[in-house]
Amino acid sequence: MFGIWPVPGFGIGRHAARVCGMLGLLVLWILGGCHSAKQEPTTVSYLRLGWSQPDDLPEIESLLQQFTRETGIRVRDLPVPETTLDQLDLSRGLLKRAAAGPDVLAVDVIWLGVLQPDLVDLQHDLADEFPPFEPRLLRSYEADGKLAAVPYTVQVGVLQYRRDLLREYGYQRPPRTWDELETMAVRIQAGERAKGNKDFWGYVWQGAAAEALTCNAIEWQAAAGGGRVIESNRTISVNNPAAIRSWQRAKHWIGWISPPSVLAYQELDSLNIFDNGGAAFGRIWGGASTTHIALFRQMHWRNSLAQRITGYTTIPDGLIGGAGTLGGSGLAVSQHSSHRREATELVRFLIRAQIHSNQGDDSAVVDEPGFHSAGSVSEASRTSETAVRAKLVIRPSSETGSQYEQVARAYIDTVHSVLTGEKPAPEAAAALEKELVRITGFPIGPPLKED
Ligand code: GLC
Repeated sequence: MFGIWPVPGFGIGRHAARVCGMLGLLVLWILGGCHSAKQEPTTVSYLRLGWSQPDDLPEIESLLQQFTRETGIRVRDLPVPETTLDQLDLSRGLLKRAAAGPDVLAVDVIWLGVLQPDLVDLQHDLADEFPPFEPRLLRSYEADGKLAAVPYTVQVGVLQYRRDLLREYGYQRPPRTWDELETMAVRIQAGERAKGNKDFWGYVWQGAAAEALTCNAIEWQAAAGGGRVIESNRTISVNNPAAIRSWQRAKHWIGWISPPSVLAYQELDSLNIFDNGGAAFGRIWGGASTTHIALFRQMHWRNSLAQRITGYTTIPDGLIGGAGTLGGSGLAVSQHSSHRREATELVRFLIRAQIHSNQGDDSAVVDEPGFHSAGSVSEASRTSETAVRAKLVIRPSSETGSQYEQVARAYIDTVHSVLTGEKPAPEAAAALEKELVRITGFPIGPPLKED
């Protein structure tokens, strides 16, 4: 019957059409009423980030099932691509599909300025949940005056090393400076190759033209006194001798202590090389908690051999100290969600679960300054707190907001072109400075000490 709605002007009188129309509405209303009596449970879709490692998935599934048992709300877990720039493209595309897009999204801390117009301000709905959060962390999820996401995972760049090899080659502690790392890497690499492990390298990191390179390179230059590309006072500082020297130093590693293929590595590539016994040192993301940035947890799945022989420490110091990039993601609710209440409940549930699991986690803290983990969680937290606070470098995403994507793409291309030898570093830095002025309109200035 719904296929033959009378259309005025097609042989039926106006009055008859109106009566039929009203009858039709009545039928729809009755049907609608019957329908809601045995209402389907609401399903929220969740764009979840993270590299799903084999033993991650059951834990995530059971968490989402627990949410459904407690609330009656079902969750549809959507797969995501590996790299953060691809994740951004996907999130942006799906948000444009309005109500057909995801209800809840995990968003990398750097994309809030880009995505915020499509995200709900969670400031009020979730205010009760905020007291335990590290205030600085909460602030990094604000964009354009609103809390566009609530911190969920926290990551900090750290250095992993082979405990067994360091001992074997007579080192009592992991390297504190890039100079020390180079010396140790050269020696261990030569020793392991002499034993027949011809493909062994000193140091693996992420040199592919992707955001992971931003994280590596900003660590090199910040530690050398070369600033963080764009400073907190919105000045462009990237074209300076310290930053240039730090890129040149990294270029020199390639083919010396790092494999030429490092230019194509992202996180999982370098992790695999390290876990398969192919390197002495590697840059990796360490996990920290949302309430206490200091406590590291090892976030990546490792095989048991790797777990036993891997140590973690802060990224080595350059001339003015060291720097580990702040990474991680927050949970956001789509402005277009037709299940906003249920979506907010999912965010609340997940952040509570995360805080709870952080509290019970005393695994794999950073081994600074020696080889041995501190005896208790609180002791370990204090040790690493000092280290991390001194060493956190934050990418200039809040300074550049919706333009951070362009800024990051320009920076990545520049550093990559230096590493491949396509452009000399001073020329590349000068061209990048011009490009950043064009993108942001910000003035040029020196790196700031307090950044
Ligand atoms: C990790 C970090 C994220 C960063 C990305 C780069 O996912 O959490 O902040 O942008 O790595 O690859």
